[in-house]
Amino acid sequence: MSLPYLFDQIINRSHTNSFKWDNVSYEGRDMLPMPVADMDFPVANEIKACIDRISDHQILGYSVVPESLKIVAQQKINNSYGWDTPLDWQVWIPGIVPGITAACAQFAEGGILTAVPVYHPFHLVANWVNKPLFTFPMIEENERWTFDFFAFEDALKKGPKVFLFCNPHNPGGTVFNEEEIQRIIDLCQQYNCMIISDEIHADLRIQAKTEHICIGKYIESSPSISFFASSKTYNTAGLGGAVAIIPDPEIRKQFISATLGFFPMLTRHSIEVMETSWTMPSTWLDMLLPYLKANHEVLLSFICQQKGLRMLPLEATYLAWIEFDEVLYGNFQQRLFENGLHVLRGDQFLGSNFIRLNFACPRALLEKALGIIQQTIHESH
Ligand SMILES: Cc1ncc(COP(=O)(O)O)c(C=O)c1O
Repeated sequence: MSLPYLFDQIINRSHTNSFKWDNVSYEGRDMLPMPVADMDFPVANEIKACIDRISDHQILGYSVVPESLKIVAQQKINNSYGWDTPLDWQVWIPGIVPGITAACAQFAEGGILTAVPVYHPFHLVANWVNKPLFTFPMIEENERWTFDFFAFEDALKKGPKVFLFCNPHNPGGTVFNEEEIQRIIDLCQQYNCMIISDEIHADLRIQAKTEHICIGKYIESSPSISFFASSKTYNTAGLGGAVAIIPDPEIRKQFISATLGFFPMLTRHSIEVMETSWTMPSTWLDMLLPYLKANHEVLLSFICQQKGLRMLPLEATYLAWIEFDEVLYGNFQQRLFENGLHVLRGDQFLGSNFIRLNFACPRALLEKALGIIQQTIHESH
Protein backbone atom coordinates (compact mmCIF):
# COMPACT_ATOMS: atom_id res chain seq x y z
CA MET A 1 0.00 0.00 0.00
CA SER A 2 1.40 3.39 -0.86
CA LEU A 3 0.92 6.26 1.54
CA PRO A 4 -0.62 9.39 0.08
CA TYR A 5 2.17 11.65 1.34
CA LEU A 6 5.80 10.70 1.69
CA PHE A 7 7.61 13.16 3.89
CA ASP A 8 10.80 11.09 3.67
CA GLN A 9 11.39 11.78 0.00
CA ILE A 10 14.19 14.22 -0.76
CA ILE A 11 13.29 16.69 -3.47
CA ASN A 12 16.10 18.73 -4.96
CA ARG A 13 15.22 22.40 -4.40
CA SER A 14 18.45 23.86 -5.78
CA HIS A 15 18.10 26.06 -8.87
CA THR A 16 14.42 26.72 -8.17
CA ASN A 17 14.99 30.33 -7.07
CA SER A 18 14.54 29.10 -3.53
CA PHE A 19 15.29 31.68 -0.83
CA LYS A 20 16.40 28.76 1.33
CA TRP A 21 18.38 26.57 -1.08
CA ASP A 22 19.72 29.11 -3.58
CA ASN A 23 21.17 31.53 -1.04
CA VAL A 24 23.88 33.56 -2.81
CA SER A 25 26.23 33.25 0.17
CA TYR A 26 26.58 29.50 -0.60
CA GLU A 27 28.61 30.37 -3.72
CA GLY A 28 28.00 26.97 -5.29
CA ARG A 29 29.00 25.02 -2.14
CA ASP A 30 27.06 21.92 -1.15
CA MET A 31 25.21 23.46 1.81
CA LEU A 32 22.40 22.08 3.95
CA PRO A 33 20.05 25.03 4.53
CA MET A 34 17.94 25.17 7.68
CA PRO A 35 17.41 28.87 8.22
CA VAL A 36 14.26 30.02 6.38
CA ALA A 37 10.85 28.93 7.70
CA ASP A 38 9.50 26.82 4.87
CA MET A 39 9.34 23.03 4.68
CA ASP A 40 11.21 20.70 2.34
CA PHE A 41 8.01 18.72 1.74
CA PRO A 42 5.79 18.65 -1.34
CA VAL A 43 2.38 20.23 -0.91
CA ALA A 44 -0.77 18.15 -0.48
CA ASN A 45 -2.24 16.50 -3.58
CA GLU A 46 -5.29 18.78 -3.33
CA ILE A 47 -3.08 21.87 -3.52
CA LYS A 48 -1.19 20.47 -6.50
CA ALA A 49 -4.53 19.80 -8.22
CA CYS A 50 -5.64 23.36 -7.52
CA ILE A 51 -2.46 24.80 -9.07
CA ASP A 52 -2.73 22.42 -12.03
CA ARG A 53 -6.29 23.62 -12.60
CA ILE A 54 -5.15 27.25 -12.71
CA SER A 55 -2.26 26.36 -15.04
CA ASP A 56 -4.62 24.51 -17.40
CA HIS A 57 -6.88 27.53 -17.55
CA GLN A 58 -3.88 29.74 -18.46
CA ILE A 59 -5.37 33.04 -17.34
CA LEU A 60 -3.48 34.97 -14.67
CA GLY A 61 -5.16 38.35 -14.55
CA TYR A 62 -6.04 40.36 -11.44
CA SER A 63 -8.15 38.56 -8.87
CA VAL A 64 -10.63 39.42 -6.15
CA VAL A 65 -11.17 37.60 -2.86
CA PRO A 66 -14.46 35.74 -3.34
CA GLU A 67 -17.20 35.45 -0.74
CA SER A 68 -16.48 31.70 -0.65
CA LEU A 69 -12.94 32.27 0.72
CA LYS A 70 -14.26 34.75 3.28
CA ILE A 71 -16.73 32.16 4.54
CA VAL A 72 -14.06 29.44 4.55
CA ALA A 73 -11.75 31.65 6.66
CA GLN A 74 -14.60 32.49 9.02
CA GLN A 75 -15.37 28.79 9.45
CA LYS A 76 -11.71 27.91 9.86
CA ILE A 77 -11.24 30.43 12.70
CA ASN A 78 -14.46 29.32 14.33
CA ASN A 79 -14.02 25.56 13.93
CA SER A 80 -10.31 25.41 14.80
CA TYR A 81 -10.05 28.12 17.47
CA GLY A 82 -13.63 28.72 18.61
CA TRP A 83 -13.78 32.36 17.56
CA ASP A 84 -16.91 33.39 15.70
CA THR A 85 -16.09 36.49 13.64
CA PRO A 86 -18.39 38.41 11.27
CA LEU A 87 -17.25 38.57 7.65
CA ASP A 88 -16.93 42.34 7.69
CA TRP A 89 -14.13 42.14 10.28
CA GLN A 90 -11.88 40.57 7.62
CA VAL A 91 -9.21 42.46 5.70
CA TRP A 92 -7.34 40.38 3.12
CA ILE A 93 -3.66 41.11 2.67
CA PRO A 94 -0.78 39.62 0.65
CA GLY A 95 1.17 38.55 3.76
CA ILE A 96 1.41 38.93 7.51
CA VAL A 97 4.73 40.78 7.57
CA PRO A 98 3.39 43.59 5.33
CA GLY A 99 0.26 43.60 7.52
CA ILE A 100 2.34 44.06 10.67
CA THR A 101 4.33 46.83 9.00
CA ALA A 102 1.19 48.70 7.90
CA ALA A 103 -0.34 48.33 11.36
CA CYS A 104 2.79 49.62 13.08
CA ALA A 105 3.08 52.55 10.67
CA GLN A 106 -0.51 53.49 11.44
CA PHE A 107 -0.92 52.79 15.15
CA ALA A 108 2.48 52.69 16.88
CA GLU A 109 3.02 56.40 17.51
CA GLY A 110 4.36 55.91 21.04
CA GLY A 111 6.44 52.89 20.07
CA ILE A 112 6.31 49.16 19.48
CA LEU A 113 6.63 46.54 22.21
CA THR A 114 7.59 42.93 21.69
CA ALA A 115 9.03 40.02 23.68
CA VAL A 116 12.52 38.89 22.68
CA PRO A 117 13.83 36.71 21.21
CA VAL A 118 11.33 37.04 18.41
CA TYR A 119 10.85 36.48 14.68
CA HIS A 120 13.03 39.26 13.29
CA PRO A 121 10.40 41.44 11.48
CA PHE A 122 8.79 42.03 14.89
CA HIS A 123 11.76 44.12 15.99
CA LEU A 124 13.04 45.27 12.58
CA VAL A 125 9.65 46.86 11.86
CA ALA A 126 10.39 49.64 14.36
CA ASN A 127 13.19 50.83 12.12
CA TRP A 128 11.15 50.31 8.94
CA VAL A 129 8.38 52.61 10.20
CA ASN A 130 10.66 54.85 12.24
CA LYS A 131 9.09 54.25 15.66
CA PRO A 132 10.76 53.50 19.02
CA LEU A 133 11.22 49.84 19.92
CA PHE A 134 10.67 48.48 23.45
CA THR A 135 11.45 44.89 24.33
CA PHE A 136 11.24 42.59 27.31
CA PRO A 137 12.73 39.12 27.74
CA MET A 138 11.21 35.68 27.47
CA ILE A 139 12.18 33.48 30.41
CA GLU A 140 12.37 29.75 30.99
CA GLU A 141 9.69 28.33 33.28
CA ASN A 142 8.74 24.67 33.68
CA GLU A 143 10.64 23.61 30.56
CA ARG A 144 9.04 26.18 28.29
CA TRP A 145 9.55 29.78 27.24
CA THR A 146 7.14 32.34 28.65
CA PHE A 147 7.08 36.08 29.28
CA ASP A 148 8.83 37.86 32.09
CA PHE A 149 5.59 39.59 33.08
CA PHE A 150 7.34 42.04 35.44
CA ALA A 151 9.59 43.21 32.63
CA PHE A 152 6.53 43.28 30.36
CA GLU A 153 4.80 45.73 32.71
CA ASP A 154 7.93 47.87 33.08
CA ALA A 155 8.17 48.10 29.29
CA LEU A 156 4.46 49.01 29.00
CA LYS A 157 5.06 51.91 31.40
CA LYS A 158 7.32 53.47 28.75
CA GLY A 159 4.26 54.16 26.59
CA PRO A 160 4.31 51.84 23.54
CA LYS A 161 1.01 51.98 21.67
CA VAL A 162 1.29 48.58 20.04
CA PHE A 163 2.21 45.17 21.45
CA LEU A 164 3.29 42.67 18.79
CA PHE A 165 2.34 39.22 20.02
CA CYS A 166 3.62 36.07 18.34
CA ASN A 167 1.34 33.15 19.30
CA PRO A 168 2.52 30.42 18.94
CA HIS A 169 5.90 31.94 19.52
CA ASN A 170 8.68 31.92 16.96
CA PRO A 171 11.39 31.01 17.97
CA GLY A 172 10.40 29.78 21.46
CA GLY A 173 7.69 27.39 20.26
CA THR A 174 5.33 28.42 23.08
CA VAL A 175 1.56 28.05 22.78
CA PHE A 176 0.35 30.62 25.29
CA ASN A 177 -2.12 29.26 27.82
CA GLU A 178 -5.26 30.79 29.31
CA GLU A 179 -3.50 32.30 32.29
CA GLU A 180 -0.80 33.90 30.13
CA ILE A 181 -3.35 35.23 27.64
CA GLN A 182 -5.34 36.78 30.50
CA ARG A 183 -2.26 38.46 31.96
CA ILE A 184 -1.33 39.88 28.56
CA ILE A 185 -4.85 41.25 28.10
CA ASP A 186 -4.98 42.77 31.60
CA LEU A 187 -1.62 44.47 31.24
CA CYS A 188 -2.23 45.81 27.72
CA GLN A 189 -5.64 47.14 28.74
CA GLN A 190 -4.22 48.74 31.88
CA TYR A 191 -1.60 50.61 29.80
CA ASN A 192 -3.81 51.27 26.80
CA CYS A 193 -1.69 49.31 24.40
CA MET A 194 -3.23 47.74 21.30
CA ILE A 195 -2.56 44.02 20.75
CA ILE A 196 -1.48 42.90 17.30
CA SER A 197 -1.42 39.12 17.27
CA ASP A 198 0.29 36.95 14.65
CA GLU A 199 -1.19 33.44 14.70
CA ILE A 200 0.42 32.00 11.57
CA HIS A 201 1.82 28.97 13.45
CA ALA A 202 -1.47 28.14 15.23
CA ASP A 203 -2.00 24.80 13.46
CA LEU A 204 1.58 23.61 13.89
CA ARG A 205 1.09 22.44 17.47
CA ILE A 206 3.27 19.37 17.70
CA GLN A 207 2.83 18.72 21.43
CA ALA A 208 1.04 21.63 23.04
CA LYS A 209 -0.77 20.99 26.30
CA THR A 210 -3.32 23.64 25.45
CA GLU A 211 -5.39 24.44 22.39
CA HIS A 212 -4.50 27.54 20.46
CA ILE A 213 -6.21 30.58 22.03
CA CYS A 214 -7.05 33.57 19.84
CA ILE A 215 -6.38 36.57 22.04
CA GLY A 216 -8.65 38.70 19.83
CA LYS A 217 -11.68 36.69 20.93
CA TYR A 218 -11.36 38.08 24.45
CA ILE A 219 -10.85 41.74 23.50
CA GLU A 220 -13.48 42.26 20.83
CA SER A 221 -14.46 45.64 22.22
CA SER A 222 -10.86 46.94 22.40
CA PRO A 223 -8.68 47.87 19.41
CA SER A 224 -6.89 44.75 18.15
CA ILE A 225 -5.68 43.04 15.00
CA SER A 226 -5.26 39.27 14.65
CA PHE A 227 -3.51 37.77 11.64
CA PHE A 228 -4.17 34.29 10.22
CA ALA A 229 -2.72 32.47 7.22
CA SER A 230 -2.67 28.95 5.82
CA SER A 231 0.75 29.37 4.22
CA LYS A 232 2.97 28.02 7.04
CA THR A 233 0.84 24.99 7.75
CA TYR A 234 0.40 23.91 4.14
CA ASN A 235 3.87 24.97 2.96
CA THR A 236 2.73 27.57 0.46
CA ALA A 237 4.67 30.52 1.91
CA GLY A 238 5.90 31.57 -1.52
CA LEU A 239 2.32 32.32 -2.58
CA GLY A 240 1.54 34.56 0.39
CA GLY A 241 -1.97 35.55 1.39
CA ALA A 242 -3.36 36.23 4.86
CA VAL A 243 -6.36 37.68 6.63
CA ALA A 244 -6.50 40.29 9.36
CA ILE A 245 -9.43 40.15 11.77
CA ILE A 246 -10.17 43.66 13.00
CA PRO A 247 -13.33 44.01 15.11
CA ASP A 248 -13.26 47.81 15.57
CA PRO A 249 -14.56 49.56 12.41
CA GLU A 250 -12.43 52.69 12.90
CA ILE A 251 -9.23 50.64 13.40
CA ARG A 252 -10.16 48.58 10.34
CA LYS A 253 -10.63 51.72 8.25
CA GLN A 254 -7.31 53.16 9.40
CA PHE A 255 -5.51 49.87 8.79
CA ILE A 256 -6.89 49.68 5.25
CA SER A 257 -5.85 53.27 4.58
CA ALA A 258 -2.28 52.41 5.65
CA THR A 259 -2.17 49.64 3.04
CA LEU A 260 -3.49 51.64 0.07
CA GLY A 261 -1.03 51.85 -2.78
CA PHE A 262 1.45 49.63 -0.94
CA PHE A 263 -0.26 46.25 -1.04
CA PRO A 264 -0.72 44.36 -4.30
CA MET A 265 -3.92 42.42 -4.89
CA LEU A 266 -3.83 38.79 -3.88
CA THR A 267 -2.97 36.44 -6.69
CA ARG A 268 -5.35 33.83 -8.05
CA HIS A 269 -2.93 31.14 -6.86
CA SER A 270 -2.90 32.51 -3.35
CA ILE A 271 -6.70 32.86 -3.16
CA GLU A 272 -7.54 29.44 -4.53
CA VAL A 273 -4.79 27.65 -2.62
CA MET A 274 -5.92 29.21 0.69
CA GLU A 275 -9.48 28.09 0.02
CA THR A 276 -8.28 24.59 -0.89
CA SER A 277 -6.03 24.37 2.18
CA TRP A 278 -8.80 25.26 4.58
CA THR A 279 -11.43 23.00 3.01
CA MET A 280 -9.57 19.83 2.01
CA PRO A 281 -9.63 16.70 4.20
CA SER A 282 -7.18 16.84 7.09
CA THR A 283 -5.09 13.86 5.83
CA TRP A 284 -1.97 15.86 4.93
CA LEU A 285 -1.87 17.76 8.23
CA ASP A 286 -2.71 14.60 10.19
CA MET A 287 0.40 13.02 8.70
CA LEU A 288 2.61 16.10 8.82
CA LEU A 289 2.25 16.80 12.55
CA PRO A 290 3.44 13.34 13.73
CA TYR A 291 6.33 13.53 11.27
CA LEU A 292 7.37 16.93 12.65
CA LYS A 293 6.91 15.64 16.18
CA ALA A 294 9.18 12.67 15.48
CA ASN A 295 11.81 14.95 13.92
CA HIS A 296 11.53 17.13 17.01
CA GLU A 297 12.16 14.13 19.26
CA VAL A 298 15.21 13.05 17.25
CA LEU A 299 16.63 16.57 17.45
CA LEU A 300 15.79 17.13 21.11
CA SER A 301 17.31 13.87 22.29
CA PHE A 302 20.46 14.55 20.21
CA ILE A 303 20.83 18.10 21.56
CA CYS A 304 20.31 16.96 25.16
CA GLN A 305 23.27 14.58 24.79
CA GLN A 306 25.71 17.22 23.55
CA LYS A 307 27.97 19.02 25.96
CA GLY A 308 27.29 22.75 25.93
CA LEU A 309 24.07 22.57 23.85
CA ARG A 310 20.52 22.96 25.19
CA MET A 311 17.02 23.33 23.90
CA LEU A 312 13.59 23.30 25.48
CA PRO A 313 10.92 21.06 23.99
CA LEU A 314 8.75 22.98 21.54
CA GLU A 315 4.98 23.06 21.87
CA ALA A 316 4.52 24.32 18.33
CA THR A 317 6.38 25.27 15.13
CA TYR A 318 9.23 23.43 13.45
CA LEU A 319 11.84 26.00 14.47
CA ALA A 320 14.19 24.84 17.22
CA TRP A 321 15.79 27.44 19.46
CA ILE A 322 19.11 25.95 20.54
CA GLU A 323 21.40 27.47 23.14
CA PHE A 324 25.15 26.92 22.92
CA ASP A 325 28.04 27.53 25.27
CA GLU A 326 29.99 30.38 23.72
CA VAL A 327 33.12 29.59 25.71
CA LEU A 328 33.19 26.06 24.26
CA TYR A 329 32.03 26.81 20.75
CA GLY A 330 32.75 30.48 19.98
CA ASN A 331 30.82 31.60 16.91
CA PHE A 332 28.95 28.32 16.57
CA GLN A 333 26.71 29.46 13.70
CA GLN A 334 29.74 30.48 11.65
CA ARG A 335 31.52 27.20 12.37
CA LEU A 336 28.46 25.17 11.37
CA PHE A 337 28.26 27.23 8.19
CA GLU A 338 31.88 26.45 7.37
CA ASN A 339 31.07 22.75 7.83
CA GLY A 340 28.10 22.95 5.45
CA LEU A 341 25.07 23.58 7.71
CA HIS A 342 23.26 26.91 7.53
CA VAL A 343 21.17 27.86 10.58
CA LEU A 344 20.19 31.33 11.74
CA ARG A 345 22.16 33.26 14.32
CA GLY A 346 20.24 33.91 17.54
CA ASP A 347 21.09 37.60 17.53
CA GLN A 348 18.90 38.05 14.45
CA PHE A 349 16.05 37.38 16.90
CA LEU A 350 17.68 39.51 19.62
CA GLY A 351 18.88 36.47 21.52
CA SER A 352 22.61 35.74 21.84
CA ASN A 353 24.27 32.29 22.23
CA PHE A 354 21.48 30.66 20.27
CA ILE A 355 20.91 29.25 16.84
CA ARG A 356 17.56 28.60 15.16
CA LEU A 357 17.24 25.39 13.19
CA ASN A 358 14.34 24.46 10.92
CA PHE A 359 13.67 20.74 11.20
CA ALA A 360 10.77 20.54 8.70
CA CYS A 361 12.67 18.32 6.32
CA PRO A 362 13.02 14.62 5.45
CA ARG A 363 14.51 12.70 8.38
CA ALA A 364 17.65 11.88 6.37
CA LEU A 365 18.41 15.59 5.98
CA LEU A 366 17.90 16.18 9.68
CA GLU A 367 20.29 13.31 10.43
CA LYS A 368 22.84 14.83 8.06
CA ALA A 369 22.51 18.13 9.96
CA LEU A 370 23.05 16.35 13.28
CA GLY A 371 26.18 14.79 11.81
CA ILE A 372 27.53 18.23 10.94
CA ILE A 373 26.71 19.52 14.43
CA GLN A 374 28.48 16.49 15.95
CA GLN A 375 31.55 17.00 13.77
CA THR A 376 31.67 20.72 14.68
CA ILE A 377 31.45 19.84 18.37
CA HIS A 378 34.27 17.28 18.06
CA GLU A 379 36.50 19.84 16.37
CA SER A 380 36.09 22.04 19.48
CA HIS A 381 37.40 19.52 21.99
C1 LIG B 1 5.64 34.41 13.19
C2 LIG B 1 5.68 34.61 11.70
N1 LIG B 1 4.88 35.52 11.13
C3 LIG B 1 4.86 35.72 9.80
C4 LIG B 1 5.70 35.01 8.96
C5 LIG B 1 5.68 35.27 7.50
O1 LIG B 1 4.40 35.61 7.09
P1 LIG B 1 4.10 36.12 5.63
O2 LIG B 1 4.89 35.26 4.70
O3 LIG B 1 2.63 35.97 5.51
O4 LIG B 1 4.53 37.56 5.59
C6 LIG B 1 6.56 34.06 9.51
C7 LIG B 1 7.50 33.32 8.67
O5 LIG B 1 8.36 32.63 9.13
C8 LIG B 1 6.55 33.86 10.91
O6 LIG B 1 7.32 32.93 11.50
